[in-house]
Amino acid sequence: MSKIQDPAQFGRVAVAMGGSSAEREVSLDSGRNVLAALQARGVDAHAIDGIPALLDALRAGHFARVFNILHGQHGGGEDGVLQGALESLHVPYTGSGVLGSALSMDKTRSKRVWQSLGLPTPKFVPLPRGADVHAAAREIGFPLIVKPACEGSSVGVTRVFEEKDLDAAVALAEKYPGDLLMETLIEGDELTVGILGRQVLPSILIVPKGAFYDYNAKYVADDTRYICPGLEGEVEASLRALSLEAFDALGCYGWGRVDVMRDRQGRNWLLEVNTAPGMTSHSLVPKAAAVSGIDYQELCWRVLETSFRGDA
Ligand SMILES: Nc1ncnc2c1ncn2[C@@H]1O[C@H](COP(=O)(O)OP(=O)(O)O)[C@@H](O)[C@H]1O
Ligand SMILES: [Mg+2]
Repeated sequence: MSKIQDPAQFGRVAVAMGGSSAEREVSLDSGRNVLAALQARGVDAHAIDGIPALLDALRAGHFARVFNILHGQHGGGEDGVLQGALESLHVPYTGSGVLGSALSMDKTRSKRVWQSLGLPTPKFVPLPRGADVHAAAREIGFPLIVKPACEGSSVGVTRVFEEKDLDAAVALAEKYPGDLLMETLIEGDELTVGILGRQVLPSILIVPKGAFYDYNAKYVADDTRYICPGLEGEVEASLRALSLEAFDALGCYGWGRVDVMRDRQGRNWLLEVNTAPGMTSHSLVPKAAAVSGIDYQELCWRVLETSFRGDA
């Protein structure tokens, strides 16, 4: 149930979008949709492009709260840097705080936390620059996957089935900033679980036409199929419970999306948490919300309510 009834209770809302990260275009697409939905529900919402413009507007007292739909790291809006700035200005905002945002952006450290709690995540070896990747591959075994530890949108991610393809996979991942990560390739199904407040949305089973859910399948091809709920009965319930545990373990808050692989024995493996997931018309969280009877406008409203941190 919605906590807020009157849109005036939100005050003037900045919808922070765009910015300078690699995911700028996706963020703008999400942001324009969010803005239109909030305005349609009577919220006094305004678009702001990027963090510098947002901070200027906040310091001038123009906004009461922020709907954050910026995507990306290095001060891109999703990695805790913006969250820290907003905390210091005492401006409420949607989604996870400093810790949850920063931890989720770092896949290696997310996995360490899950491991320490006994939550399932594929076996991994962190690969700092210059690491012996062949020794790491012997430890993991083939097939494996190589990815940048702190990127998104499947960029730089390669599945490696044989040693001869390892160097090329590492060279590709190294094109992106930061450390790399090598993990066991889970062969099976890919699922994602949206979280909204304390509500876990039905899982989505992602069935790409190609070998895996790469950048092309995410943003270009329109032949990826989405099945929601992705599982049924007990197995669906346990996937949802695991996803919420994984989200809570990273100190995440408000809303987000947990990516999971399910192997052929039916075991779930946690991949990562996204703290400002896409909100375009074809994004995953809106699809899962719709299946739960939460339309796009209501979804945006409920995400905005998370800016009250339970004290509304
Ligand atoms: N251990 C793994 N086993 C199988 N597939 C994986 C594994 N890790 C990642 N993938 C595939 O690569 C995609 C991107 O990986 P992910 O860790 O979610 O990073 P991001 O979405 O931030 O790029 C996933 O959606 C999945 O298709
Ligand atoms: Mg992912």
